[in-house]
Amino acid sequence: MRNAEITGWGKCMPQNVLTNHDLEQLIDTSDEWITSRTGIKERRIADVEPSDLASVAGHRALAAAGKTVDDVDLLLVATCTGDSIIPSTSSVVQNKMGAWNAAAMDLNAACSGFVYGLVVGTNMIRGGTNSTVLLIGTEKLHYIMDFTDRTTCVLFGDGAGAVVLEPTDEPIGVLASELGMDGSIGAALSVPVDGTMGDRGYPDPAMCGIKMEGQEVFRRAVTTMAESSARVLEEAGIGLDEVELLIPHQANIRILEATARKVGIDNSKLFVNIESYGNTSAATIPVALTEALAQGRISPGGNVVFTAFGGGLSWGSAIYRWGDRVEPLGFSDIELPAPKRSTFEILQPNFDFFGLPEKLA
Ligand code: ACO
Repeated sequence: MRNAEITGWGKCMPQNVLTNHDLEQLIDTSDEWITSRTGIKERRIADVEPSDLASVAGHRALAAAGKTVDDVDLLLVATCTGDSIIPSTSSVVQNKMGAWNAAAMDLNAACSGFVYGLVVGTNMIRGGTNSTVLLIGTEKLHYIMDFTDRTTCVLFGDGAGAVVLEPTDEPIGVLASELGMDGSIGAALSVPVDGTMGDRGYPDPAMCGIKMEGQEVFRRAVTTMAESSARVLEEAGIGLDEVELLIPHQANIRILEATARKVGIDNSKLFVNIESYGNTSAATIPVALTEALAQGRISPGGNVVFTAFGGGLSWGSAIYRWGDRVEPLGFSDIELPAPKRSTFEILQPNFDFFGLPEKLA
């Protein structure tokens, strides 16, 4: 049977950093509160567009796969904070990368976008429609961060991660997967005025930022990611002792540890990098995967569980068996342009639009 394997991987994190101590200068919070409640120490803030982050991550993933942009026949961009609706962010990325042989589309499943994309890309290859899929998760979440709301503005950051999927006849790749959505509780995590429902010309800034029922999302994230992971493991006939690594969507350290505990996977097999980047939505898993490979956390033939939960409320899980190669074939020397502004300068338009953070008012 024709399967699909990840042959390349890469990430692109913006250079500007927003630390918990920076946030202490803006809002009534503390490094201790944020660290103990979320595990986050700092996040990255982009001085470029999501398509720029995506393009760099995409080139790096292609270099790791030993492929060129001309090889790509499908470009999937998972994002909920894209450059524009028309043209799609994937269209903008295609243009920036010069991936002229690729069909391109956006995929919005919020924080579950990468797992959705992995399943879509895998099945496009299995079905014979495509043979080189570039799947990118990219976000510029700071655009919708309201620094007058301390319950949400500490959680998110910007970044991009990418993988290349190619056909293989080996019994590897996605062994079992599950995608889900419960639109009846979509309001638990939303940007209320963002689309045709918006009040054109007269937006209420308070309604243009991320709104979240934190505890409700927390509870559902743990239960859903744990149960969904257990189901895909059972479907694939993979025992817990055969799992090498659990790479969950990086939402909150307490969510990640509670999910691992509920599935029955030891913390030593749990990949966490939330301290460095916060929640970058569709980008967290490909970024984590890239770092896990660089750290030697995945061996040839290793079984990796990907699981995610987020806006929608959406979720997705996949049990993935790695192939023989855990080293990149090559490296790209592409870099983001040097940022022209300081982190607070990049955030100034947020302060102007949503209102000044408490300590600057
Ligand atoms: N700094 C200091 N205090 C704060 C802050 C802050 N940044 N934010 C809230 N508080 C205060 C609250 O006002 C409250 O004070 P009060 O008791 O005087 O009213 C107190 O801290 C406790 O607030 P809770 O909401 O009960 O705190 P909780 O322990 O639930 O943590 C959090 C809040 C971190 C948002 C948590 O609910 C969470 O992580 N939820 C999941 C949300 C998430 O990760 N969403 C991302 C998108 S979905 C996904 O990716 C899975």
